Amino acid sequence: MTSDPVTPWGKGTSVVSIRQFDPLRVAELFALADRMGAGAEGVGALARGRIMATLFYEPSTRTRLSFEAAMLRLGGQVVSTENAASMSSAVKGESLADTVRIVSGYADVIVLRHHEAGAARLAAAAADVPVLNAGDGPGEHPTQALLDAYTIVRRTGRLDHLRVALVGDMAYGRTAHSLSLLLANYPGQTITFVAPDVARAPAALVAELRARGATVVESEDFGAAIADCDVLYMTRVQKERFPSPELYARAQGRFALDADALARLSPRAWILHPLPRLGELPEAVDADPRAVYFEQARNGVPIRMALLARALGAA
Ligand code: NCD
Repeated sequence: MTSDPVTPWGKGTSVVSIRQFDPLRVAELFALADRMGAGAEGVGALARGRIMATLFYEPSTRTRLSFEAAMLRLGGQVVSTENAASMSSAVKGESLADTVRIVSGYADVIVLRHHEAGAARLAAAAADVPVLNAGDGPGEHPTQALLDAYTIVRRTGRLDHLRVALVGDMAYGRTAHSLSLLLANYPGQTITFVAPDVARAPAALVAELRARGATVVESEDFGAAIADCDVLYMTRVQKERFPSPELYARAQGRFALDADALARLSPRAWILHPLPRLGELPEAVDADPRAVYFEQARNGVPIRMALLARALGAA
């Protein structure tokens, strides 16, 4: 199947990277997601007789369950490995390529989460059916970026001329990588990465965002970034990806949206988080009218319904 990360998204293509989505395709997807969310006529039969396989080699709550719920809402069915790393033939030494080749004989679409960057691309090349990247290690998480952007546009009314502060683990946080790439396709963006020195965004990513025309600021000044932004995107420090416990300890807990920070946060800012959260996003924030992360998580269903329907060639 489609293996090139820049193959434009369309009917029957894999989704490996957010680079497959230009603003026109994003708008097309969001229009489709609106129809899915509104329960338009016939939506519940779009995937009738079709099967989605989920292959998750890393833990997941939201991504896997929202993909499964999305497939069921389209009238399709789901086969799943609870934990592919310990419950599939990976334990016996089977390669990822062999596994997806086999699974593509059983299902019409594969949703894959893996601990290695580039795994989705490799899987898409090996499979005979579309592969949707549900997170490849520290690489990308394109379907999350799409639901993040969907939440942003529904709240702010636009995806251009935004001041976005992405905070936390910019080195290993794949959701931040994909979301910043998506946003940099629109004019007038100011993207501020607020990260500890041991968790800075990859230099190649920063260069790519600038080449797309975004103003990119790298900072450790959380207070300044949050005082003037339209979107505050908080993230968890990815303990499981840090090279050592010492480096993790230096990154964890640096920036938190505590009561002081919340008081300084721009009144026009929407607060997003891909979840799960740790101390960077205290539960006290939940009551703030700017907090939209639960709505963001819910948006995963219509977005993934639209992605699945298109992957299956059914919409
Ligand atoms: C994120 C992920 O898996 O990258 N979670 C998600 O899919 N919503 C974020 C994280 O694990 O920190």
